Amino acid sequence: MGRTYLFLSGKGGTGKTTLSTSLGIALARKGKRTVLVDADIGLRCADLLLGMENDILYDLSDVAEMRCTLPQALVHCREAQGFSVLSAPQMMKPSELDKLRLAAIIEELKLDYDYVLIDCPAGLGRGLRNFWSTAEEAIVVTTPDDASVRAAERLSQLLFEKKNIHPRMILNRADRLLVRVGEEQRPSVISGRTDMQLLGVVPDSPDVYRALLKHKTALLSDSISVRHAIARIADRIEGIERRFPRYCRSQSQF
Ligand SMILES: Nc1ncnc2c1ncn2[C@@H]1O[C@H](COP(=O)(O)OP(=O)(O)OP(=O)(O)O)[C@@H](O)[C@H]1O
Ligand SMILES: [Mg+2]
Repeated sequence: MGRTYLFLSGKGGTGKTTLSTSLGIALARKGKRTVLVDADIGLRCADLLLGMENDILYDLSDVAEMRCTLPQALVHCREAQGFSVLSAPQMMKPSELDKLRLAAIIEELKLDYDYVLIDCPAGLGRGLRNFWSTAEEAIVVTTPDDASVRAAERLSQLLFEKKNIHPRMILNRADRLLVRVGEEQRPSVISGRTDMQLLGVVPDSPDVYRALLKHKTALLSDSISVRHAIARIADRIEGIERRFPRYCRSQSQF
């Protein structure tokens, strides 16, 4: 039976789609059957980052409303064997989908896949509530700025209050030089402030955006440090202990 991971953020544009698509490839390349569910109803873009936009025939709403079977809607990713994607509908609102049907689809996916990664829309709205009952784990993706961190903290509190879920955090777009000169908070400090365990720290790199322009996700970008950071996160999801780079740790951990 597979495990479901929600990728969430309080503020938009923090890197949920970049990291969930990348981790889908990374976990599949480790031999784990992985499926990514694009839950950003109305604003899907995981297919674009994976260069699959011309392969999508059916989406989540077609499965929910029984216009096709689940296997018919799954698209297999060329970048990694064992990695499939279930796309979001583009012409619907999150409230138009039936939560119970969505939960049944996720349960069905868990029978066939080791990891079900759900790329959620930003915020605390219906897009999140459509899926939060299905999750074993939640990963809050945040950037190091105060607005994003505060929204992440709020989201974490809400998940605990409503669903008794303790999310872990990926800090994305961290800049080690800004941390060294004291302009950006140390990842360990942000983790302490939000009361979320750090699952990973991904550096900021122009190569990630360059890859996006070519319809490629961060794991396929030219940035070695980004690729290594994502590989370390995939290991930690698998329960393998990986040390954090020095600038991510608290002073007492040196
Ligand atoms: N580590 C990184 N370094 C540089 N740019 C990044 C990094 N991660 C993501 N980005 C860029 O940030 C932008 C937003 O990324 P992405 O679409 O993954 O965010 P999101 O959280 O899914 O957004 P939304 O809330 O709209 O769904 C993209 O232009 C992406 O290329
Ligand atoms: Mg997104």
